[in-house]
Order: sequence, then structure tokens, then C-alpha cells
Amino acid sequence: MMMDGDMAELSGKVALVTGAGVGIGRAIAQVLAREGARVLVVDFNEDTARETAAGIRAAGGEAVPHVADVSDESCVQAMVRAAVDTFGGLHVACNSAAVSRGSGPIHGFTREVFDHTLTMCLTNTFLCMKHEIAHMLEAGGGSIVNISSNASLRGQPYNTAYAAAKSGVNLLTKSSASEYGHKGIRINAVSPGVIRTPGVERYFEEQPKIAEGLKQAAAMRRLGEPREIAEVVCFLASDRASYITGQLLSVDGGAAVK
Ligand SMILES: NC(=O)c1ccc[n+]([C@@H]2O[C@H](COP(=O)([O-])OP(=O)(O)OC[C@H]3O[C@@H](n4cnc5c(N)ncnc54)[C@H](O)[C@@H]3O)[C@@H](O)[C@H]2O)c1
Repeated sequence: MMMDGDMAELSGKVALVTGAGVGIGRAIAQVLAREGARVLVVDFNEDTARETAAGIRAAGGEAVPHVADVSDESCVQAMVRAAVDTFGGLHVACNSAAVSRGSGPIHGFTREVFDHTLTMCLTNTFLCMKHEIAHMLEAGGGSIVNISSNASLRGQPYNTAYAAAKSGVNLLTKSSASEYGHKGIRINAVSPGVIRTPGVERYFEEQPKIAEGLKQAAAMRRLGEPREIAEVVCFLASDRASYITGQLLSVDGGAAVK
């Protein structure tokens, strides 16, 4: 509950969220907007980006949809420019967009599927960081939160490309945090466990046994909700986390410690 004198913690801030059309990215955009940020809702799916932004505005927040494929550097440059042109700056960026295609034993992976996974999960994050940081350096600071995955934490049989890409995101986060800490840019990552997004729900309908197994894998014996990731992203993005940088925080109901 807001008390007299409380300010929404991101009021006056401009944020962008990639992959904000559905699932975790959408929840992040909603929570950042609830906390007062003006949000650029980025997705390569125009319909869902519009839907997210419209939902935020209907709830009294400020959001504008922006169509971009963040694996394309010219789109990424235009995305950062759009945040600055539309809202006058960029203080917070959450890089959540990812596509993981294909799984199976590594000797069966094609080069094309492996490259595609790296491009859509790791290189995209690098490109976003590159241009977000360039702006934040000029502006005198900012906060970036990358979305990793618990798949990055230990061996992931049959999910090697995605696991390798996400562990790359972890090291991008830590290396860049140490490069830019003294410039007022904090860079952290959140590692979700299994989160009940529309994509995960569809998969579980086809594979109910796997769903039950994954629930049991968390110490809390349940899946996470997109909102539970978003609250942590919001904290890391905010000044409440002003002395935290280079961290990877698992939000997974205790799956990583079991
Ligand atoms: N759902 C989970 O259980 C889970 C677990 C661990 C990590 N994650 C990570 O969380 C993030 C969000 O996951 P989700 O399940 O909500 O994903 P999702 O597949 O439901 O949504 C991803 C969104 O990103 C968009 N997108 C993908 N690539 C893009 C690109 N190049 N440019 C622009 N938009 C792009 C898609 O259109 C989609 O709207 C991802 O980084 C994912 O790897 C998810």
C-alpha cells in the first residue's frame, strides 16, 4: 500500500523491455510501469507489443509499443533512439527477449540451429547492452537487467545451445558490470526457474508428466509466475538496489539449491 509521501520507485524514469509482448517480458513491463516508469514495450510481434502497451495504459501507466528484432543491430540502435525520442531518455533496460529452438543430443544439433540459438539468446543481449550502455554513458548512468535462465547454472543435457547461450549472458553481465560500475551503470541478471508463461503452459499440456517433475524440482514445489520475476527485475532496476551490480539472482522457488 502506498503511504503518504511515498513515491512510486521508478517515477521519472524511462525503461525499455525487450520481448515484452508476452510472458515474463510483459509482466516486467507492467511492473515497471506500475512503479511509475514510462515504458517502451519492445517485441518483434507487433500485435502483442500493442496489447501489452494498451493494457498498461488501461491500468493508468505510460507505455508505447515498439517493433524491433533485437538480433538486428540497426533495429537495436533504432530502439534506443525511440526510447530517447519518445520519452526523453533511457534509465532502465531489461533485456528479456529470447528464442530457443531445438533440443536434443549435441551430435544431432545442426550448426544452423546452434547459431540461431546463440544469435537469439546471447548476441541479441550483447547488441542491446552495447547500445543501451552507449546512451547511459552519455547520460551519466543507468541500470540494466538481463534475463538469464537456471539452464545456465549447471549441465543441461539435451539443451546445450540454450544453456551455453544463457551462461554467456551471465558472463556478459558480470564482465560489463565491472567495466561500467565506475560510470554509474549497474548491470545485473535474473535467472528464472520454470515460470508459468503461455509457452510453458502449452508445452505442459502436451507433456503433463514433465510439468509435474519440474514442479517437484523447486524446493517450493510449484512453478513461478511471471510477476514474481518482474518484481525482482524492478527491485534491481531501482535505486533500492543502488549498491548491487554484476549479480545473477535466481528466482526459482529454490530449484537451484535443491
Ligand atoms: N518461461 C520460463 O520458464 C523461463 C525460464 C528461464 C528463463 N526464461 C527466459 O525468460 C525470458 C522470457 O521468457 P518467456 O518464457 O516469457 O518467453 P516467450 O517465448 O514467452 O516470450 C519471448 C518474447 O520475446 C519476443 N522476442 C524473441 N526474440 C525477439 C527478438 N529478437 N526481437 C524482439 N522480440 C523478440 C517474442 O516475440 C516473445 O514475445 C527469455 O529470456 C527466456 O529465455 C524463461
